[in-house]
Amino acid sequence: MHDQIPFYKPFMTGRELDFISECVLQGQTSGNGPYTRLCERLIGNIIGSGHLLLTTSCSSGLHIAALLCDLEPGDEVVMPAYCSPVAANAFLSVGARPVFADVDSDTLNIDIEQVESCLTDRTRVILPLHYSGTACDMSRLLKITEDKTIRVVEDVSEGFGARYHGKALGCLGDFGVFSFHETRDPTCGEGGAIVINNPAQYERAEIIREKGTNRSQFFRGQVDKYTCVDSGNSYVLSDLLAAFLSAQLETFEQIQSQRRVLYELYLKTLAPLAERGLIRLPATPADCQINYHGLFFLVKTGQVRKDLLSHLNSRGISAACHFSPLHKSTMGKRLGYESVVLPVTEDVSRRIVRLPFYHDLESHQVLRVVQTIFDFYAVKADL
Ligand SMILES: Cc1ncc(COP(=O)(O)O)c(C=O)c1O
Repeated sequence: MHDQIPFYKPFMTGRELDFISECVLQGQTSGNGPYTRLCERLIGNIIGSGHLLLTTSCSSGLHIAALLCDLEPGDEVVMPAYCSPVAANAFLSVGARPVFADVDSDTLNIDIEQVESCLTDRTRVILPLHYSGTACDMSRLLKITEDKTIRVVEDVSEGFGARYHGKALGCLGDFGVFSFHETRDPTCGEGGAIVINNPAQYERAEIIREKGTNRSQFFRGQVDKYTCVDSGNSYVLSDLLAAFLSAQLETFEQIQSQRRVLYELYLKTLAPLAERGLIRLPATPADCQINYHGLFFLVKTGQVRKDLLSHLNSRGISAACHFSPLHKSTMGKRLGYESVVLPVTEDVSRRIVRLPFYHDLESHQVLRVVQTIFDFYAVKADL
């Protein structure tokens, strides 16, 4: 009997409790304390932007971005349907209407030609999700928005530390939102950040994040008492969680190189199956530097995916599929999207397989996963 290989394991550096103890001893556990500042500095060092705010999640970051876009009922947000519901919900909550564009079958990122076909005079926002840490074609996307009043909100929940033409994802559009959920590296269990690329909007973002109040200005001595000045919510990350996240951020480079080794081992050992046309591995475009978020590939049909997942799972290997397309979800149907046709999204969502991927996955476990896939296809492996 083999050990179970989980789909993911939360990453721990071993220093988190030291940082949290220090935070408790310092006496500030709410947000905006010394550990928040440390995280903001460490993140700034990695992504090269100083205009960022820690948030309670990527979802709350998306809600802040949606409010900052100043939308009116019926304004349109072009986004992929191959995405988490949180992005659509953030914009629905401010009265906007998601318009779903199809994705590219190589990267599973929003297809720029499809984006162009979705544009109308009501388009106010384009929301690219950088799927699995591979950048969308941002040069083309930003060209579309160049002469228009269309905002770009990057969903970088899977792409912390990844780059496009050398520039960090999240720093290319108007706003970038990160997730530090347990399934991400680095993590603090639940957390996120928003990058505000137009400094003029930073102050308002701070207000929205702090329940719609100018409390931060009060603490800086800019106003003599604080009050409600805008819409907002309680989206400040606790310093306890920022302490945890600081410990993680300090080891970012080291974890990235560990993940890179695993990623490359998977790619190399799975290549013979791709050469036989049995699976399709992701190819990283030349202008992208990925962050090794995870390993996915496409199999030939939905039935093969079902059989392969049950083959792996019955042998103690937790492999997974991914998003259910939003236009076909219960909510999507209720909102009238059922008749929308997105052939690539619908196809890839049936054929995608994601393999176990976490920082301390060992090489012999990767080889066991790959061997089990070769066995499924009855192909002799040379591992
Ligand atoms: C594409 C995408 N965006 C946003 C989120 C939300 O992240 P968080 O859990 O930090 O709110 C997720 C999480 O599942 C996601 O997959």
